[in-house]
Amino acid sequence: MEERKAKIIAVWGSPNSGKTTIATKLATAIYDRYQSTVIVLYCDLEAPVLPIIFPNEKHEDVGSVGVPLSKTEIEAEDIERNAVTVKNRGNLVFFGYRAGDNKFTFPRYGRAKAENLINILCHNADYVIVDCSSNLENSVLSATAIEMADQIIRLASPDLKCISYYLSQLPVYADGKYRLGEHIQGLNTPNADVFMPVEEAKAHLKDVRFTVPFSTAVKVQMQTGSLVEPTGDKAFDNRMREIAEKVVTYGAY
Ligand SMILES: Nc1ncnc2c1ncn2[C@@H]1O[C@H](COP(=O)(O)OP(=O)(O)OP(=O)(O)O)[C@@H](O)[C@H]1O
Ligand SMILES: [Mg+2]
Repeated sequence: MEERKAKIIAVWGSPNSGKTTIATKLATAIYDRYQSTVIVLYCDLEAPVLPIIFPNEKHEDVGSVGVPLSKTEIEAEDIERNAVTVKNRGNLVFFGYRAGDNKFTFPRYGRAKAENLINILCHNADYVIVDCSSNLENSVLSATAIEMADQIIRLASPDLKCISYYLSQLPVYADGKYRLGEHIQGLNTPNADVFMPVEEAKAHLKDVRFTVPFSTAVKVQMQTGSLVEPTGDKAFDNRMREIAEKVVTYGAY
């Protein structure tokens, strides 16, 4: 096994709680604050994330993480060719599934391959942020990231559906490998609808360690394929910087 270098931060949580958004913004916050090499790994294979984050890239210019995951031996070239980078931010690198990918596109892979890939990413970065699927039993990559992570952020949104999700699903992940007891519970506000009061949501979720405000600018960025660009929303950016600082200086959570 390769020697580990990067710190792995897994972002997991209920469907639509903002995992993809927060994973991306945490990555840019760490990148901007610490001038480090940051890799984001998007695990979603039901709605591949690369065409959402980079809708303006030409299809042929976007790689797929499915390629290295289907190799017997993952080579440096498989990683390089399937990485997505953005202008002027060379050390911020993205891996995920691309437009049209689904579970039939690539051969099945197992836990060992997922671990192999994550280790290679770690070898090439200071931070690896993993945007995990809500359903960990359907995503070997997500489940492996949860097992390997240095820190696990668990996101919720202040609505009854989210509360119901956790009531139903936390027992499903009772196995120690999912490390429920170590998760850092956060509360995000993914849209501007009427929500239950934050205090009530906190009472249901127990031990909420951070909250993220709703940001119209972020919502617009997600709709226009510019999520990796600066947000320009001070309240949101300040909160993401605080979270980044706590995550980076271990133990702060
Ligand atoms: N703090 C926020 N402010 C504004 N919009 C947000 C915020 N967090 C998330 N959103 C929006 O909420 C929606 C859901 O976010 P996102 O896709 O990141 O959730 P997810 O948990 O990754 O969903 P899925 O379970 O489908 O993977 C998106 O439209 C996103 O732009
Ligand atoms: Mg997502």
